[in-house]
Amino acid sequence: MARILITSALPYINGIKHLGNLAGSMAPADVQARFQRARGNEVLFLCATDEHGTPAELAAQAAGMEVRAYCDAMHEAQKALAAGFGLSFDWFGRTSSPQNAALTQHFADVLEDRGFIEERVDRQLYSLDDQRFLPDRYVEGTCPICGYGQARGDQCDNCGSLLDPLELKDPYSVISKSRNLEVRETRHLYLRQTGLESDLRAWVDARTDWPALARSIAYKHLDDGLIDRGITRDLSWGVPVLRHGRPRPGMEGKVFYVWFDAPIEYIAAAQEWADATGGDWTRWWRLDQGAQDVRYIEFMGKDNVAFHSVSFPATLLGSGEPWKTVDTLKAFNWLNWYGQPFSTSHQRGIFMDAALEILPADIWRWCLTAYAPEHSDSSFTFDQLVAAVNRDLADVLGNFVNRILRFCESRFEGVAPEGGEEGPLEAQLKADLAAGLAELTAQFEAMESRKSAQALRALWSLGNVYLQEAAPWTAIKTDPVRAAVIVRTAINLVALYARISAPILPYSAAAMAEAVGESRLDWPGDDLAAELARVPAGRPVRSPPLLFAKIEPEQVAIWSQRFGAPVEAA
Ligand code: 2FM
Ligand code: ZN
Repeated sequence: MARILITSALPYINGIKHLGNLAGSMAPADVQARFQRARGNEVLFLCATDEHGTPAELAAQAAGMEVRAYCDAMHEAQKALAAGFGLSFDWFGRTSSPQNAALTQHFADVLEDRGFIEERVDRQLYSLDDQRFLPDRYVEGTCPICGYGQARGDQCDNCGSLLDPLELKDPYSVISKSRNLEVRETRHLYLRQTGLESDLRAWVDARTDWPALARSIAYKHLDDGLIDRGITRDLSWGVPVLRHGRPRPGMEGKVFYVWFDAPIEYIAAAQEWADATGGDWTRWWRLDQGAQDVRYIEFMGKDNVAFHSVSFPATLLGSGEPWKTVDTLKAFNWLNWYGQPFSTSHQRGIFMDAALEILPADIWRWCLTAYAPEHSDSSFTFDQLVAAVNRDLADVLGNFVNRILRFCESRFEGVAPEGGEEGPLEAQLKADLAAGLAELTAQFEAMESRKSAQALRALWSLGNVYLQEAAPWTAIKTDPVRAAVIVRTAINLVALYARISAPILPYSAAAMAEAVGESRLDWPGDDLAAELARVPAGRPVRSPPLLFAKIEPEQVAIWSQRFGAPVEAA
């Protein structure tokens, strides 16, 4: 049994997340966590809300709430939605936890002790009208790289470049929209990434298990040359800047930068989990406590890769302490909404709460896996959703399950029949299933979302082809024993489909399993004969309520209007 640590990018606290956030980290991470658990591996699956920095402060202001109360409420809302989507986190933590504050302050101390943090006098934009500094997202302007007019102080959402607010052209305050800004001096801590450049390159060179997208982004940042990064901010909400537990002269009231403390929460979330459950976090994160045996897989959107291939590893390596670092970094491109980015700030696209109001979680999980923005950006459209639901789920999987179980109810009194001699069709089916299962297992192992969905759909199709060729409804008229063999085989296929569909479709898989009296959804082995003999003769089975309702054009018309989809899609 392997030990596998899985983390999903931490969603910002600043509102309900959209389907793009789900598609690019939380959903694929959950599929992998469920797959690895089904394989019998020990999994620790962590996520948390990212609660500090300007996104939190700005969202709380907009909601007219005190920032802590806003974060408390939004954490609960995000946690409930994650549960609604079946995201099986072992722990859903908070970057505002005491564990994260202590660990962040610890890392700053050891990095400074080792010469990787230094205090500098920094030049920052100051708003005369707001009477405050404008770090990160408190300032917007024109991107110096691509010319996008609403680039944020820390990052351009259009081209993905990491920015310093001073680089923005024509900057303005997000609070007051004032352009009455000046550059003032302020004292900050800098992480000397330049001093760790060769260590970081050697570390990335050794990450041979990273898929291509993450590797190419990591090398782009290394090849561009690292710069020292400011890791503190003139904000009140965040982890206080201390030095060995005491206020730091000249930096009272300042906090660590959100991108310094957020990745540290990946470790702190394990501590939160351990404190709550009695588990041992050290065997997941400390190389001197057994974590050298852990395989660590991270899931994130491509805009996060710089932080996890450079900044956070700089924190971990620079500490000189034996921390586990990521083995496999699976990055995703953007999921767009009819060609434009989903956007929290512009409220563009479908958000997790609305998604669950209109369709069950499994529908979204399937759609976001089968059309994952994996090797390029992809666009969500209702046409695509309809195709995924009607063609794949309803016509292929749902049709097979309902057809065979209804037939069993009507012709075999809802009891799995005694089998008989199997024929060439069953032999062929088992050979095809063995090949398909090997392909599916390999694609899940490789974390290839789209190919996993294709392989799974191909396995479902085998069931329909088998039923079509074996035709139990004809056999029953002349050869009831033959019909029983077919029905028994097909009922076992339902059980098999429940097991192999569960990582992507956990709710439907549970319904399918229950229909044939199964509860253990472990991953099948190579012996197909044994795997297709789990449901014994004499076991009562029943057809489940409709597994997947087809989407009708009238529903699409309503949703297109509700979510502002372009008219041609309706
Ligand atoms: O991009 C985002 O949504 C960030 N909140 C992700 C943080 S992940 C981690 F590194 F902290
Ligand atoms: Zn740009």
